[in-house]
Amino acid sequence: MLTLVLATQKGGSGKSTLAIGLALVAMQAGHTVRLIETDSQGTLSNWQARRSAAEPIVEPVYNGREIEQRLLSLERRRSSTPRAASPPPPPRRFAMPICA
Ligand SMILES: Nc1ncnc2c1ncn2[C@@H]1O[C@H](COP(=O)(O)OP(=O)(O)OP(=O)(O)O)[C@@H](O)[C@H]1O
Ligand SMILES: [Mg+2]
Repeated sequence: MLTLVLATQKGGSGKSTLAIGLALVAMQAGHTVRLIETDSQGTLSNWQARRSAAEPIVEPVYNGREIEQRLLSLERRRSSTPRAASPPPPPRRFAMPICA
């Protein structure tokens, strides 16, 4: 599972815009994407609510202490997903959470 963290204290520097762009491109490339939103403004949640598509799922985590647990939970869910014995799944099937 690949995890990208987009973080800076400076407002309006492009975190949310970049997270959305990366998520859409990664999905187009075949990745499963989860966006973990740590911003109480809810930019990513609001964006997802305006979309008709279910993916990518946006998971709000406003308590910083919960981020690690949420990532571990995503990793466990990915690991427990049944897969065909052969051929092995291609890397592009891996989940890609993006924290923004
Ligand atoms: N669709 C758009 N059209 C024009 N400008 C945009 C668009 N989306 C974002 N911007 C601008 O791009 C800049 C980056 O915004 P963005 O919300 O991604 O930053 P951010 O780092 O997430 O901000 P914050 O710290 O407030 O969460 C802002 O100046 C914003 O106004
Ligand atoms: Mg933002």
